[in-house]
Amino acid sequence: MTTNVDFGELQYGWELAYQHQDTEQPLWQEAAIPVIDDAIELLRSAGARSVVDLGCGDGRNLAALVAAGFSCMGVDIAPTGLAHARTTAQPAFLLRADATDIGLIDNSVDAVTCFDVFGQIQDPSSLVREARRILRPGGTLVVNAFTPEDGTYGEGEEIAPHTFAYKDTLFRYYDEDSVRELFSEWEITSLYRRSWDDPPHGDFRPYPHRHDNWIVLATPR
Ligand SMILES: C[S@@+](CC[C@H](N)C(=O)[O-])C[C@H]1O[C@@H](n2cnc3c(N)ncnc32)[C@H](O)[C@@H]1O
Repeated sequence: MTTNVDFGELQYGWELAYQHQDTEQPLWQEAAIPVIDDAIELLRSAGARSVVDLGCGDGRNLAALVAAGFSCMGVDIAPTGLAHARTTAQPAFLLRADATDIGLIDNSVDAVTCFDVFGQIQDPSSLVREARRILRPGGTLVVNAFTPEDGTYGEGEEIAPHTFAYKDTLFRYYDEDSVRELFSEWEITSLYRRSWDDPPHGDFRPYPHRHDNWIVLATPR
């Protein structure tokens, strides 16, 4: 195991991945993440109207949330990803910001979603803290996080336990205890596992692979 990798640099791997994608094709896939229907139902039953999607990328999940009738904002650190989202996720607001320091005022949104991002930022506990800050009391957070049984586990260079640098990006995998620890100041209203097959992602991961996820629904205490 080596530790000489710059975590900060790894965030910018995403921007390069978006810059090198085929402009006709979204980097991930056109379809939203398979758990989006669950998320929409949960957000509706929680009475959410405004949703901020953290790490929205090129906007596939944001587009589904817009289509479901939520008032949406997408936040991402990668400007080229956001430029694609401008066409895919109209009329969502788009904000270029670090998801750990968003600049929205406290208690201002009903719900936060965060898909396929959670294990890919340097300090996930800061993201969780920031989500808590912007959520109104009783608001809802929906995230997924890869488990150690995910099909991509072990790819790239292991830089910390359950943490890999893969093509200049960071991948971290969570066991149940580490998920619960991250949300120790939240009420976890639902925590379950779900797997799905993903198609190739351009040059980034050019082969089909299976993801195994924790799905977390939580409310600030
Ligand atoms: C695997 S992609 C997922 C994109 C999108 N959520 C989806 O499911 O299609 C991860 C995204 O997280 C973004 N990201 C990584 N670190 C970030 C940070 N600190 N703040 C905001 N976005 C970040 C990347 O730019 C990238 O768009």
